[in-house]
Amino acid sequence: MLNKLKNATLLVTGGAGFMGSNFIRHLLDNEQFKGKIINLDLLTYAGNLDNLSGYDEDSRYHFVHGDIQNGELLSSIQEEHNIEIIVHFAAQTHVDKSIQSPRTFLETNILGTQSLLEFVRANPQIKFHLISTDEVYGSLPKEGQFFEDSPYRPRSPYSASKASADHLAMAYHETYDLFITISHASNNYGLCQYPEKFIPLMILNCIEEKPLPVYGKGDNVRDWMYVQDHSVALISILEKGVNGEVYNIASNEEISNLDMLHLLIERFCEITSNDPAKYIKLITFVPDRPGHDFRYSLNTDKMQKQLGFKATRSLKEGIDLTINWYLNNLDWVERVKNKTYYDWVNQQYTTVDMD
Ligand code: NAD
Ligand code: TYD
Repeated sequence: MLNKLKNATLLVTGGAGFMGSNFIRHLLDNEQFKGKIINLDLLTYAGNLDNLSGYDEDSRYHFVHGDIQNGELLSSIQEEHNIEIIVHFAAQTHVDKSIQSPRTFLETNILGTQSLLEFVRANPQIKFHLISTDEVYGSLPKEGQFFEDSPYRPRSPYSASKASADHLAMAYHETYDLFITISHASNNYGLCQYPEKFIPLMILNCIEEKPLPVYGKGDNVRDWMYVQDHSVALISILEKGVNGEVYNIASNEEISNLDMLHLLIERFCEITSNDPAKYIKLITFVPDRPGHDFRYSLNTDKMQKQLGFKATRSLKEGIDLTINWYLNNLDWVERVKNKTYYDWVNQQYTTVDMD
C-alpha cells in the first residue's frame, strides 16, 4: 500500500544495476504508483539497460545516462524533474575488484555520494536514502550479530568506501539539517545480478559445466536475501523511515559458502533433471580472498518492530526463482559474461580449464 510514495518523484542512482533495477521494476509494477522515477546511471560494466527492458516505454520512467559526480547534470535533472526523494544505489560493488584497484571505489562511493549530498544541501527539501551494506561493520566470528549502532570496522577497500559514504551522509544530516536515512543490507541475490558475484557466477558455471571456484575452504558465512524482499524493505523505509535513522535489512538465512554451493547444485539438478555428482566434481577450492570477512549477521529487530518489515522469501524459493531466471535468460547472460574467478596468486581473472 503506497502512501507518501504514490505521487512522488524519485531520483534512483545506479538503477541499471542489480538492486536498483529490481527496485525500479518493483515500484513500476505497483499500479498505485503514479509518480515518476528518474534513473541516473553511468552504465559501467555492471550497469545494464536490459535489466529494465519492457519498462522504457512507461511514462513514469526516465533514464539519464551520467555520473553521480557531475553536479551540473544533477542540477539540470532538478530543473527538469523537481526531485523529491533520492534513492542512492550507485556504487562500485565488488569486493575483489576493490582489492585489485581501490581508487575507483573511493571516487564513486565516497566522492560520488558527497556530490549527491551537496546537491541535497542545495535543495534541502529533497529526502535522501543511502543504500549501504552490512560489510561496514566488519567481520564476525561464528557467534554474534551487528546492530544498527555497532561500531564500524570495515576490512576491505569496498567496505571502507561504503563506511565513508555512511559517515558523510550522517555528517550532512547533522551539519546541514538534511533528511537522511541509511539502510545496511546483507548479501542480495536474484535476477539480473552481474555474474562476478557468488550466486550468479555459480549458476552460470553450472550451466556451462565449468569449475565452481570456492575461496579458501568455503566456510565463510553470508546471510542471503532475495532482492525483491530488499525492494519491499526499501519501500517501507521510504514510506515510514525516520529522519536520521539507520536500518538493517536481512532475511536471517545464514549459510556457509560451501553449503550454499551444495544447495545451488541440488536445486539446479532438480530443475534441470541432472545428476548432482557431475556438478559436485566441478567444485574447485581456489586461493582465498585477502582479508576475507568470515561472517556477517545483522540483527533486524528494528525493521520488524518499527517498520513492520520481515523478509518472506525462503532461501530455497529464492534460489529456484533465480536459477530459473538465469536458465530462461541465456541471451542476457551471453551479453554480460565472462569471468570465472579472481586468481589471487596471479592477480588476474581466470577461466579454469576443464581438463
Ligand atoms: P551493481 O554493481 O549491480 O550496480 C551498480 C550500478 O551503479 C551500475 O548500474 C553502475 O553502472 C552504476 N554506477 C556506478 N558508478 C556510477 C556513477 N559514478 N554514476 C552513476 N551510476 C554509477 O550494484 P548492486 O549489487 O545493485 O548494489 C547496489 C547498492 O547496494 C550499492 O550501493 C551496494 O554497495 C549496495 N549493496 C549491495 C549488496 C549486494 O549484495 N549486491 C548488499 C548490500 C548493499
Ligand atoms: P560475493 O558475492 O563477492 O559477495 P561479498 O564478498 O560481498 O560477500 O561473495 C560472497 C561469498 O562467496 C564471499 O564469502 C566470497 C565467496 N566467493 C567464492 O567463494 N568464490 C567466488 O568466485 C566468489 C566471487 C565469491
